[in-house]
Amino acid sequence: MEHHHRGEWGSNLGFLMAAVGSAVGLGNIWAFPYKMGDNGGFAFLVIYLILAATVGFSIMLCELSIGRRAGRSVLVSYQQVGSKMGTLLGFLAMLSPFLILSFYTVLGAYCMEYMSLNLADLAFGVAAMAGMSGGDTFGSMLTNQFGSVAFTFLFIFICFLIIRGGIKDGIEKFNKIGMPALFIMLVIVIVRAVTLPGAGSGLTFMFAPDLTPLTSLNGFLEVLSAAGGQMFFSLSLAMGITVTYGSYLSKKESLVKNSLIIIISDTIVAILAGMAVLPAAFALGGAGAEKQGPKLLFITLQDVFNAMGPTGPIFGVLFYMLVILAAITSTIALLEVLATFLSDRVALKGRTPDRKKLVTIICLVIFAEAALVAADGLGSNGLWIPFHETGRNLGSSWLDFMDFISEGVAMPLGALLMSIWIGWSAGPKLVRDEVELEGYKMSNGLYGFFNFCTKFIVPLAMAFILYGQVMKFMEIPK
Ligand code: PFF
Repeated sequence: MEHHHRGEWGSNLGFLMAAVGSAVGLGNIWAFPYKMGDNGGFAFLVIYLILAATVGFSIMLCELSIGRRAGRSVLVSYQQVGSKMGTLLGFLAMLSPFLILSFYTVLGAYCMEYMSLNLADLAFGVAAMAGMSGGDTFGSMLTNQFGSVAFTFLFIFICFLIIRGGIKDGIEKFNKIGMPALFIMLVIVIVRAVTLPGAGSGLTFMFAPDLTPLTSLNGFLEVLSAAGGQMFFSLSLAMGITVTYGSYLSKKESLVKNSLIIIISDTIVAILAGMAVLPAAFALGGAGAEKQGPKLLFITLQDVFNAMGPTGPIFGVLFYMLVILAAITSTIALLEVLATFLSDRVALKGRTPDRKKLVTIICLVIFAEAALVAADGLGSNGLWIPFHETGRNLGSSWLDFMDFISEGVAMPLGALLMSIWIGWSAGPKLVRDEVELEGYKMSNGLYGFFNFCTKFIVPLAMAFILYGQVMKFMEIPK
């Protein structure tokens, strides 16, 4: 059947920019450096690379193949492989973007607030940050509910304007400009960071071979769990996005090559982000700055910009602008999972989808849930249901909760079920057949590797990550 309403990427390069744009996001620039900082530096990097090459590659190839094979939304694509399991996986894969959007957009909005503050400092010399530490800035931002909700609205509105234009004229066009711009800004920030006095210890921490954190079993498992979860989120797996973007990909393109390019680019950007953030944190962030966890981006780095003197706000603006770009290119991918789902549904009923209307509805619904997360201010404003009275951890904010259901449960569970399904029931040959269209060859060695990973490594890794996430959330705080 022809899918006239759907359209296709304008070029393979356009697809790659969009796919890399979806993968490169807050996960790379915010989470990767702090997780690396908190989990042994070099040791984390090694485990991350191994997982990306095995687990990441196998899931990505499965998802791209399943999406392109069907040329349909994530739900229908999975259903075409098998109806019952397909329906379950399809809904799991849509639940995750839906929940992730509730906080991803708020984090994007915080970056916009930071950029505005630095910009005001720069343009009008109002010294918005003068005398305020990064911690004060963040604290007042979290408790300003109106500001957070307003910036969240603005962030979603910008994404709305982009995805309204569709795959080729909206998403592809934006990424083709946005991704190179992001890369250039990142390089400028790195040059500044690594030339700060004292930056060398940050680089040593990242790259000097030191595997001691892996020598105890507990240490090894901790690093494995952190790196596994991170790899998964960063590569945009099990969120319907790779299936959805794959569904717009021409049969003429190589799936193996595209998977590898996406994984390698995403990993390079994560390492580059580490090189922008960690040396600066080591140089100007004070003792233990690299271990600040999620605060690294919003508190430590602002302190770093404050400490840089008059050029601080310039780098502040550049840095937060690049994070915003990364967040936008990922948010539009998450929104597209839902948009493609609705528009394919309408088309299946024989009607012509009105993309603008569908996208408007999706953005309004997402804004409603994001407004709750924004107003909650990471738990600062007490909107979170006090589950902690049960004595268990269960997170401390709406953000934690949304994150746990999506990143903690739905995604690893989805990938676990998918790998068992493809590996043991539907058969990895299904993927090979799609890969080998138009004369491409999947060598026996590569097929054997993919087959082994899908059958054994991916299910094991996913079960382990799932277990780790659930235990962390359910633990009784000390
Ligand atoms: N990969 C993104 C990141 O690292 O921030 C997160 C993400 C965006 C996942 C878009 C999935 C997605 F569709």
